[in-house]
Amino acid sequence: MKNYRIAVLKGDGIGPEIVNEAMKVLDAVAAKCGFTVEYDEALLGGCAIDATGVPLPDETVAKCKAADSTLLGAVGGPKWDSMPGNLRPEKGLLGIRAALGLFANLRPARIFEPLRDASPLRPDIIGGSLDIMVVRELTGGIYFGERGRLEENGVQAAYDTEKYSVPEIQRIARIAFDLAMKRNKKVCSVDKANVLESSRLWRETVTEMAKEYPEVELSYMYVDNCAMQLVRNPAQFDVVLTSNIFGDILSDEASMISGSIGMLASASLGESGSGLYEPIHGSAPDIAGQNIANPLATILSVAMMLKYSLGESEASDMIEKAVAEVLNEVRTPDIYVEGFRKVSCSEMGDEVCSHL
Ligand code: IPM
Ligand code: MG
Repeated sequence: MKNYRIAVLKGDGIGPEIVNEAMKVLDAVAAKCGFTVEYDEALLGGCAIDATGVPLPDETVAKCKAADSTLLGAVGGPKWDSMPGNLRPEKGLLGIRAALGLFANLRPARIFEPLRDASPLRPDIIGGSLDIMVVRELTGGIYFGERGRLEENGVQAAYDTEKYSVPEIQRIARIAFDLAMKRNKKVCSVDKANVLESSRLWRETVTEMAKEYPEVELSYMYVDNCAMQLVRNPAQFDVVLTSNIFGDILSDEASMISGSIGMLASASLGESGSGLYEPIHGSAPDIAGQNIANPLATILSVAMMLKYSLGESEASDMIEKAVAEVLNEVRTPDIYVEGFRKVSCSEMGDEVCSHL
């Protein structure tokens, strides 16, 4: 029987609760599809700081590299907010993305039919169907550029740098174009080329690459306009290709279209294909430990792992179908509306398992 080794980084806040449900669902689908899963837990973020003094211990990187894929919950919390920048939990997350070379972040935002009522957008704005794939560059740009503090004429100042090289833009653009070919063949490249030089290089490079994909319709949008268009007419988008920081912001926005940030999964991929899978939401320290978080984004991240890294598409489809079904019956508080049964985080995991 096929056996997969999955590195598990539960992290902080609601991380452990949601990851436990995702593991429950992965075990259940494995049993149905005839494979087994072995977990190797490691520390990342605040819990790693508490235990080892650093947000990303070497052992964690080694475990992820040895695994077939990595599942991550969320990191961070008020407890570590006053730590210096290089010792914050978030630094661990950025560090693991860099250490594993995960330059491509896929964040699908789509509407599950039963959740239309949870979307803050009017039904006529959502339109017939909604399926946007945000392709976010993940290991470059201002997140990793030179930064620092200095004193100018006795005044404190600080700076961060947005820098992209042509190969960095090419490899993420290729992912976006290849994905578009399997979808509706549209790529919208989002930048701020009216102001930023790095955006102008981004646009030139994407334009060059488009020549290799004559079937794909390429458009460009400034990021401010894109933020507006996402709530004005989200159905116009298929693949949205963008930089690290713009992708961070736009994917949070896109998630709300689909009803709740608690629904959005993500895949972070590099050259190796093993990938790291995590919900796009944070560690939600305000609700941690209460068993009320929505585990569906993490469960859907497992579905993405099965599809993109483990080659188990049947198991992946089964999870997505089960999630769509349970939404007709039960809801966690973040997506609750009258007429449904309100369930806890762990009950939601059980419900998904029983619909597999
Ligand atoms: C995300 C998060 C992270 C990011 C934070 C926690 C560093 O917001 O995955 O979107 O900005 O990439
Ligand atoms: Mg974010």
